[in-house]
Amino acid sequence: MNRRAFLMSSGAGMIIAGSPLAWAQASARPLPLIPMTDLTAGISERISLTLQSGAHDFGNGAKSTTLGINQSYLGPVIKAKQGQDLPFDVTNATGETSTLHWHGLHIPGDVDGGPHQEIEPGAVWTPDVPLVQHASMNWFHSHMHGRTAQQTYNGLAGVLLVEDDSSLAADLPKTYGVDDFTLVLQDKMFGADGKMAYELSAAVFEDGFEGDTLVVNGAIAPVSQTVPTGLVRLRILNACNARFLELSMATGPVTVIASDGGFLASPVEAESLLMSPGERYEVLVDMGSADMNALNVNLDGGGGNGFFANLFGGNQKVTALTLQRSGDKGFTGSMPTKLANMEPPKQSDATVTRSFQLEMDVGADLAALALAWDNFCGDAGAMAINGQPMKMDRIDEEVRKGDTENWRISVDDQLHPFHIHGCSFRILSQNGAPPPAYAAGWKDMVHVDEGWSEVLVKFDYEATKDAPYMYHCHILEHEDCGMMGQFTVT
Ligand code: C2O
Ligand code: CU
Ligand code: CU
Repeated sequence: MNRRAFLMSSGAGMIIAGSPLAWAQASARPLPLIPMTDLTAGISERISLTLQSGAHDFGNGAKSTTLGINQSYLGPVIKAKQGQDLPFDVTNATGETSTLHWHGLHIPGDVDGGPHQEIEPGAVWTPDVPLVQHASMNWFHSHMHGRTAQQTYNGLAGVLLVEDDSSLAADLPKTYGVDDFTLVLQDKMFGADGKMAYELSAAVFEDGFEGDTLVVNGAIAPVSQTVPTGLVRLRILNACNARFLELSMATGPVTVIASDGGFLASPVEAESLLMSPGERYEVLVDMGSADMNALNVNLDGGGGNGFFANLFGGNQKVTALTLQRSGDKGFTGSMPTKLANMEPPKQSDATVTRSFQLEMDVGADLAALALAWDNFCGDAGAMAINGQPMKMDRIDEEVRKGDTENWRISVDDQLHPFHIHGCSFRILSQNGAPPPAYAAGWKDMVHVDEGWSEVLVKFDYEATKDAPYMYHCHILEHEDCGMMGQFTVT
């Protein structure tokens, strides 16, 4: 009997009264279902997104001061289809300048929503966003230069699901809120008054801001959900500012079917799944035999960085979501064996190699310049890439449209999640080794720790010097502090 079958067959016995799983279930709040705007059937009018301030109860009875998009905290789940043009009206009603970046979309720089496309308070930004890519889970968040961390933490983030003909026809669970769930995972700090807090110090900039409380779709974990018998699909976003999350299931392995840029070639089973801030993965859970299962999160999955690593020796596991099976019949299909067949770029096509060194400590002279260039570092020293903190009117790299390139990334210290705008790429190596199988498909995030991480990337859309793309560390405090650069594609 393999490990999986053993765990499955022993699963019922493991869930006895008094077990941690039963406890988590009993004490859990219901999983909030994020409102969905489903555009796949057609778009008849412009799509309004209003960035607004709000008051939100994370489930502890306190009203936290938050930001949201069309609601008090976070944004809607937008579902649209490859081939559609999304005509957005993004209204900024927050009282502070912001932007809205479409993370993961293959779109030209002038509609990318990066730091050059500021939306002043009271103004409306009206990008027409063409969806050319395959089915994939993307997201949108503030990308205001020097303010991304605070605004995203406060709630300016939402999920954008792209479907295509084959994903809509695929034999996969797809009934939203029944057997198909979107999970936005975040870590939060709450003050003595129970309200969401965000405090910055030099030490916070070192690691990025990490909260001690896991929140799922805006509710303090654990949360619980009743699901029908059969396969259940979880589309998961790590929307933490800085925290790596190591996901596992209480019963059996994690079955991963998609990464940032779309479906894997076939499902991948893993003991655990390490998600950096900004990453997305889709997972299938078999609720055919077990009455209960749970998604667990090790809050110190990144290891090394941060508070829990020291306090708990790198293991601070909490239950994010318990799934409880009802008697209802749900998705009747079986675990797929083939998912997608998207041709990767050929390594031999790469004509250009670029190297990027992510730097934590750039010295006092550069730190002074970084601040003059509107980077935000609190009391900490500035950060940089290739010796240069982010500067809004400096273009760091010029890429030729249609070229396949090899980008090599290294660090001087710590673990960082590196992100590139306007593309999906393939990871050739991560920290000097092949990526785990679940990270070998289409990605727009790569982990960089020791050794080189290398990605093979092709840029097919234009980004001019007035609307360049960004590449940066997705620890948002590092990004704000200057660990970001700009490139054109022409
Ligand atoms: Cu998720 Cu440049 O961003
Ligand atoms: Cu992005
Ligand atoms: Cu970083």
